[in-house]
Amino acid sequence: MSNTQGALLVTGASGHLGHRVIELLLENAPGRQVIALTRSPSKLADLASRGVEVRAADFDQADTLAAAFADAERVLIVSTDALERPGHRLQQHRSALKAARAAGAKHVVYTSLTTPGPESLVSLAPDHWGTEESIRESGLGHTLLRNNMYTDYLLFALPHAVQTGKLVNAYGAGAISYVTREDCARIAAAALSSEFSGKRALDVTGPAAVTQAELAAWCTELTGRKVEYLAVDAASATQGMIAGGLPAPVAELMATFMLSGAKGQLSVVSPAVQELTGKAPGSVRDHLAANRAALG
Ligand SMILES: NC(=O)c1ccc[n+]([C@@H]2O[C@H](COP(=O)([O-])OP(=O)(O)OC[C@H]3O[C@@H](n4cnc5c(N)ncnc54)[C@H](OP(=O)(O)O)[C@@H]3O)[C@@H](O)[C@H]2O)c1
Repeated sequence: MSNTQGALLVTGASGHLGHRVIELLLENAPGRQVIALTRSPSKLADLASRGVEVRAADFDQADTLAAAFADAERVLIVSTDALERPGHRLQQHRSALKAARAAGAKHVVYTSLTTPGPESLVSLAPDHWGTEESIRESGLGHTLLRNNMYTDYLLFALPHAVQTGKLVNAYGAGAISYVTREDCARIAAAALSSEFSGKRALDVTGPAAVTQAELAAWCTELTGRKVEYLAVDAASATQGMIAGGLPAPVAELMATFMLSGAKGQLSVVSPAVQELTGKAPGSVRDHLAANRAALG
């Protein structure tokens, strides 16, 4: 890579996704200047020792962000996990976008959500849609990565299903094109380090949309223990998640994903991971097989 190329900047660099994106940039874009923003610079000594410029940045402190984004040519804004107050996260993302623009960034990559528009039944979709709208209005080049639900998170729900013999939720017959967090990191790193200068929104999905009945069947096959799928309504699913130990706000959020999934809003299958990274996305079944021990 030529040193005349501008710096690549990644926010949320101590989070799972942000950290992995930077590792991939170091592997795949050697010689390219990489800037890591995080609220916790002390956690990123590993990246600093590999030549990454680590800077402190908190989207809640908008007046400090101009310096944090200085000299960045292409920026990945990783959506935050600030969900406790409606609108807070959107404000955070707008502050980051404003700082990136003021710093002269030419291209913004953002981690959005599948089907994020006003039709979405997911309670946190308005944050993503609002951020997308702000990015579109900014006039900057952009790549909106509409990440579907992480395959990885199935390993929170499925062990309980294996234990009880029943996978119970409100997705019904709705199929979901789960995508691994690793594939989300790979496509984000590819989009950030590419030369693409236009404007695009990409669905980021696994290779196929899978139903809960298929998940139950794979659990049965991989563990040798019979697991059946039982569809319930969203209120019953919420109660079940709370009874199982999930905090009520998380259970209520998950129930809105179930409503969205049941309506087919999370079923789109896209070639974007293959096209941008040159490698097919991982399948749900392969992920479950690779993590067979975690299923119980
Ligand atoms: N597709 C899915 O299924 C799925 C699931 C969960 C989450 N997500 C979304 O995808 C994002 C990345 O996923 P992940 O697995 O990497 O989540 P994670 O490990 O929980 O990371 C949370 C991220 O939020 C950042 N953050 C929180 N508050 C911030 C603030 N005030 N200013 C700047 N950054 C802030 C953190 O950055 P620092 O700690 O480095 O400052 C960190 O990168 C999540 O934050 C969430 O928006 C998607």
